[in-house]
Amino acid sequence: VAEVDDVLATAQERGLLGPGPVDVQRRHAEALVALVEAATGRPRQVLDIGTGGGLPGLVAALAWPSAAVTLLDARRRAVDFVRVAVEALGLSSRCTVLHGRAETLAHEPGHRERYDLVLARAVGRPATAAELCAGFAAVGGHCAVSERPGGDTWDPVGCGRLGFVPRESIGDGIATVRVLDKVEATPAELPRRRGVPAKRPLF
Ligand SMILES: C[S@@+](CC[C@H](N)C(=O)[O-])C[C@H]1O[C@@H](n2cnc3c(N)ncnc32)[C@H](O)[C@@H]1O
Repeated sequence: VAEVDDVLATAQERGLLGPGPVDVQRRHAEALVALVEAATGRPRQVLDIGTGGGLPGLVAALAWPSAAVTLLDARRRAVDFVRVAVEALGLSSRCTVLHGRAETLAHEPGHRERYDLVLARAVGRPATAAELCAGFAAVGGHCAVSERPGGDTWDPVGCGRLGFVPRESIGDGIATVRVLDKVEATPAELPRRRGVPAKRPLF
């Protein structure tokens, strides 16, 4: 725990983690991971999109010692930092750090529908996060997106276009999370090109 908080403190100094005490942010990520595990079981192949300073991916990797965890971010600075953090936390044997845009990597065969759990914490509005996650999640797998306190609205028709069925929001007073069940393949044209999921959300 102390090692994780040290990593997060450095991430915050470098502008890779939002404001507020790092232990509170770690607990938020831990709560998110526990809620997801209770809802969907322990995953084997996990992807954290827009990991920034490593949340929730690093916390997920520590909570799930038999999972392979990939942490992805479009910012070079974030990726360089997370690579060092993975090493420092002794996670190198099962954590991979990827630099790139989710819109691009989600179309690569090595990543397309390869993950049984895709996590996104603070990565845009619901429709944006859902579109960025969809192409990575295997059919039968799940996506879990952190929500603002009180929850967010998820249009079932819009989610359906991505291959998702949204569940009810779940929370424990610390974190609120929305699990999306991936029930069908995501259409090949999704996600749309770079920047479009944020600029013109599907719902
Ligand atoms: C607000 S930060 C959240 C970071 C972290 N998940 C957390 O909860 O502290 C959003 C991160 O998502 C990354 N990001 C946003 N859009 C992205 C995209 N399309 N592909 C990859 N990374 C993206 C940004 O570079 C940034 O690091």
